[in-house]
Amino acid sequence: MNDNIELLKFTIPQLLRWRVKETGTKVALREKDFGYWNNYTWNDYYEYVKKIALGLEKMGVKKGDKLALITGASSGIGAATARLLGKQGYRVVLIGRRREALDAVAADIGDGAIIEACDASDGDAIMAMAERVTREHGVPDVIINSAGAGKWKRIEHTPPDEAVAMMGAPHFAAFFTTHAFMKGMLDRGSGVLIHISSPVSLFTWTSSVGYASARWAMRGMHEALTCDLRGTGVHSCHAVFGKVSSEYFDHNPGSEERIPKIARTVRTLTPEECAKILARLVRHPRKQVIYPFMMRLYYWTYLVAPWLVRALLRWTGYKGRD
Ligand SMILES: NC(=O)c1ccc[n+]([C@@H]2O[C@H](COP(=O)([O-])OP(=O)(O)OC[C@H]3O[C@@H](n4cnc5c(N)ncnc54)[C@H](OP(=O)(O)O)[C@@H]3O)[C@@H](O)[C@H]2O)c1
Repeated sequence: MNDNIELLKFTIPQLLRWRVKETGTKVALREKDFGYWNNYTWNDYYEYVKKIALGLEKMGVKKGDKLALITGASSGIGAATARLLGKQGYRVVLIGRRREALDAVAADIGDGAIIEACDASDGDAIMAMAERVTREHGVPDVIINSAGAGKWKRIEHTPPDEAVAMMGAPHFAAFFTTHAFMKGMLDRGSGVLIHISSPVSLFTWTSSVGYASARWAMRGMHEALTCDLRGTGVHSCHAVFGKVSSEYFDHNPGSEERIPKIARTVRTLTPEECAKILARLVRHPRKQVIYPFMMRLYYWTYLVAPWLVRALLRWTGYKGRD
């Protein structure tokens, strides 16, 4: 099991090279051709892959030809995903408000990083950024909407400015960014949009009114988008994670203690695990993914017996009225 986790650190070409080094002369595949079995060793495989890669290079396909844009790339899930996609050869546009934090992520990525420091909830700033990015780098192949914040509170403790800010990121940030690049993606006939969300977008709990409103709005956008995007080659994906050990709870004090106690039965993910899930989703887009497994189990239970999950959330939820 631990060995498998170790392997996940490597890219697929690195794993192939490692396999060839270890078992190059062993048979990797047997194929029947005109009644005869042909054996292909790992060395044979490696040569095929090498020839195809060299051919693609000759045709002009280069490392970094794919462009990803990530909002909320200065920390947590967004930063980890930016680092991973950078490692996989993507050029990555990093969006966030804290320039220094973006610089640190860009330093890890190297030449492929493009910094665009802005407030993603500001429509004009996003439109100006999109115009620059499209002119200088092209329309992104992948957009990951990970910018998000929000304190978990009851409505009587959520003043209008906080409510507006919570709708600003994630919901409007995702809406504006998606809007800004949609025409380019549709004209090209390809693109992957991933909206990062919380289980509160599936079922709600106490003291989370502003936070839940913004996640339901973003999920509504995603659901409606999937209707419009059918058959266009552009995919909208909703990625729901349980608790993640990012800086989210430092950035949004008071939220961690309001997590319903039932969440203790769900394993906490690391931002790096989320990044791997998202990188896989980029390659194989799906309408919705929910991680980890236990969270998926609660969702399935909710679909067949919503009253049960609601009751569990109520019994184990935060009871304070502050
Ligand atoms: N952590 C969890 O347990 C968890 C679980 C499920 C879902 N999520 C969701 O995943 C998303 C990312 O969370 P995280 O865990 O990665 O938290 P995080 O470490 O606090 O990251 C949030 C990111 O969003 C950016 N951001 C916030 N407001 C922004 C704005 N107006 N404009 C541009 N960027 C903005 C922040 O950058 P700047 O401060 O530099 O602007 C930061 O890079 C959030 O929507 C969160 O609700 C989190």
